[in-house]
Amino acid sequence: MKVIAVVNHKGGVGKTTSVHNLSKALAIFGKKVLMVDNDPQANLTVSCGVKDIESSIYDTMCENKSLPVVPIAERLDLVPAELSYMNAEQKLQAEINGYFRMKKALKKEAKDYDYVLIDCPPSLGILTLNALIAANSILVVVESAFLSVKGLQTIIDVVKDVQEELNPDLETEGLLLTKLNHTVLRREMAETVRNVYPNKVFDTVIRQNVALEEASAAGSDIFEYDSNSNGATDYMQLCKEILHEI
Ligand SMILES: Nc1ncnc2c1ncn2[C@@H]1O[C@H](COP(=O)(O)OP(=O)(O)O)[C@@H](O)[C@H]1O
Ligand SMILES: [Mg+2]
Repeated sequence: MKVIAVVNHKGGVGKTTSVHNLSKALAIFGKKVLMVDNDPQANLTVSCGVKDIESSIYDTMCENKSLPVVPIAERLDLVPAELSYMNAEQKLQAEINGYFRMKKALKKEAKDYDYVLIDCPPSLGILTLNALIAANSILVVVESAFLSVKGLQTIIDVVKDVQEELNPDLETEGLLLTKLNHTVLRREMAETVRNVYPNKVFDTVIRQNVALEEASAAGSDIFEYDSNSNGATDYMQLCKEILHEI
């Protein structure tokens, strides 16, 4: 089982979009995949078209209940979130094992999956730390238009702390550049990040593509919504790169 935490403490960079579409691509490739919505905003849950849930990740993290799993597509499941998950931060901070709840839950109940992708909130608080402790690797999503090497360094430093103190096995899956458009010089952008983080940046970049936005608004993934779009091409390419198929 490979557990990938998808992180960046900045919001709106493409984390949720990447979790949803990369997970679907992995499922298309025959992998059994679990998506975990680890964000109280529940954007991933909504993007998957899931409504009226009976239980959510809150119940696992704060009430010790088993993982609620909603089937989304063939070989693709989701652990949904809801707004009440906002209260989890405070609750978990008061618990001695509050940082290890996700690790415990996944170890116990997600063994059958080839891949678990965790969608993190735009912060480096206890929910993200739970994901970093549960994961074997991180995928850092970087929005190309607002590239901030300083912001990236903050994440890298936190990951280093987690590696040193709590999770020595945590690796970097890679840095993913998203929302590339014509106003940005693709090569220059990629080169800047690649110079700072040699061998860490995915060759695949995700272009700006309105179909990605439309798909999530329609409660669908990009392959169902428009399999000929740039978004579908890019996420399929990313999947192949992760699976070393290219
Ligand atoms: N490559 C892209 N091109 C165009 N819009 C995108 C792209 N990636 C994400 N978006 C849109 O940008 C917004 C923020 O993306 P999201 O994945 O929710 O970011 P995060 O989870 O980091 O907050 C959403 O409306 C999403 O549909
Ligand atoms: Mg999100």
